[in-house]
Parts: sequence; C-alpha cells; structure tokens
Amino acid sequence: MTTPAIPQDPAPRLDAVLREAGARIGAVDAEWLLLHVLQRPRSWLYAHADAPLDAAARQRFEALLERRAAGEPVAYLTGRRGFWSLDLAVTPDTLIPREDTERLVELALERLPAGAPAAVADLGTGSGAIALAVARERPRARVVATDRSAAALAVATANAACAGLGNVEFIHGDWFEPLAGRRFDLIASNPPYIRNDDPHLAEGDLRFEPATALASGADGLEDIRRIVASAPAHLRPGGWLLLEHGHDQGHAVRALLRAAGLVDVETGTDLEGRDRVGLGRLAGAASGPGSGW
Ligand SMILES: C[S@@+](CC[C@H](N)C(=O)[O-])C[C@H]1O[C@@H](n2cnc3c(N)ncnc32)[C@H](O)[C@@H]1O
Repeated sequence: MTTPAIPQDPAPRLDAVLREAGARIGAVDAEWLLLHVLQRPRSWLYAHADAPLDAAARQRFEALLERRAAGEPVAYLTGRRGFWSLDLAVTPDTLIPREDTERLVELALERLPAGAPAAVADLGTGSGAIALAVARERPRARVVATDRSAAALAVATANAACAGLGNVEFIHGDWFEPLAGRRFDLIASNPPYIRNDDPHLAEGDLRFEPATALASGADGLEDIRRIVASAPAHLRPGGWLLLEHGHDQGHAVRALLRAAGLVDVETGTDLEGRDRVGLGRLAGAASGPGSGW
C-alpha cells in the first residue's frame, strides 16, 4: 500500500501575490519588484496573471517587500531607473535620476542644434543621466561627464557602454578642476542644492541617497556658487550654462549668473510653473559648431 502524498499548498497566482503585496507597499512598487524578481516585462505579467509564483521566487520577492516597507527606494532594490529614453543602472553611490531633471535636458537640447557638433559638459553626472540623454539625442556632440565620486563615475561609464554611446568621456574630479583649459558650447549640471539642515534629507528616498549628491552648505547654494564662478572661463563665446536648482532658489541663481557676467539669464520652470533651471550665456556669438573634444 502506498502512503498518500501530503497535500502541498499550491503556489499562489501572480495576481493574488500582487494584490497582497500592493496592500503592503502600494500597487506600483509591488509590480516593479515582482517584475524584477521574475525578470519579465510588464506585458508578460499582464498576459500571465494566473501563472504560479514558485517558492524560491516568492522568498526573493518577500525579502524585497520587507526592504521596501523599511523605506529603501525601489530603484536601489531593482538597480534600475528609467530616464529620458534610457534604462540606467543605479546604485546607492548614485543619485536616483529624477523626472524633473528631464526638463534640464529639454532646455539643453533646445540650445544644441540637431546634427551639429558641439562640446558639452555634464558636471556631477551621477548615473550619467544628463550626459547620456544629451549624447543620445545629439550624436555629433562630444560630451564630457565628471563626478567627484569615482564609484558613481564607474556606474555612469557602464551605463554609456550598455546604451552603446561612444560620444561621452568620463573624468573624475571636483567640478571644473579636471577640465582645465577646456571650453564648452554648453555646460549642464544638476549639483547638490539642498540646505544642510533641510529636514527632507531625513525623509523618504533621500535617506538612502549619497549625502554628497544632495546637500550643499547652509543655504544649499555652495556648489552652485562654485560652478557659476568658474563657468565663464570654460564657456565658448555664446556658450550656455544650465543649472538645476530648488524651486525656491530661482532668484538667487539668476543673481549669481548675472554677477558672473553671463547674459540672457532666465529660469526654466517645471510643469507646475516652479523655478527649476537657471540659464545664462557667455556674451558673444557662437563661433560656429563646436569642434568636439
Ligand atoms: C544631485 S546629484 C546629480 C546626479 C545626476 N547628474 C542626476 O541628475 O541624476 C549631484 C552629483 O554631483 C556630484 N558631486 C558632488 N559634489 C561634487 C564636486 N565637488 N565635484 C564633482 N561632482 C560632485 C555627486 O557625486 C552627484 O553625483
């Protein structure tokens, strides 16, 4: 006589797992984490909502749910974040690229004629977000991306290789220090701009991001001041400086840009009409298409 098999709990269906996880951490985050565990695209999940989740995958998913519930950003748990048309690797050494920064990319592209060569710099590139978006949209531009964090620069370099972008050069160093003697048609930066004592630094995703990517002195403007002061010596005649900043820093950034002698100073706003990007140009006519490196 054979012993009857002990009934096993059936593996739960994906849609049931998602419902339960969504109630814990929110539906969108739960879906991102499950897709990451399954290594499947969203379209697959929709077509296979009744598929079972095996025990090993369930365990991996549960571990991620717990970390998310403790506050870790989804982008660090999956190691990926979409920006512009790019799927970027991110690590706790890099800022998680924000949608807001796509506004800076749009404003930069408006100042870089399509099809023309140009020399562009992205200071404090992090995961490479700004540099790689510009390099992709302006394949004839030569983009230099710098960062003081060697670890972030390694992530950015790998992102460029994955995206197949060969028109970006990565250089380690403090703001303009590694760019001595070089001038650009456009310099972009999303530098740290949060006040050191801003309570938001102790909240949400910011708690997990590198402090060196976020905080900038007592008024949040320490790095912007340094960049603006050195920028004119690194711009070609007619060249643009674009700086992302906090929504309450528009007036201060415009004043800094004017004090540095830049002209056509203005502020780009986000969809809600808030000041987010300071822009200014070195006087003089552009001397023709940038020559590249
Ligand atoms: C706000 S994050 C922006 C990252 C990326 N550009 C983005 O938009 O996702 C600022 C970046 O500036 C870098 N950084 C901070 N201080 C720096 C300095 N003195 N020189 C160069 N890079 C610096 C940080 O390591 C960080 O990667």
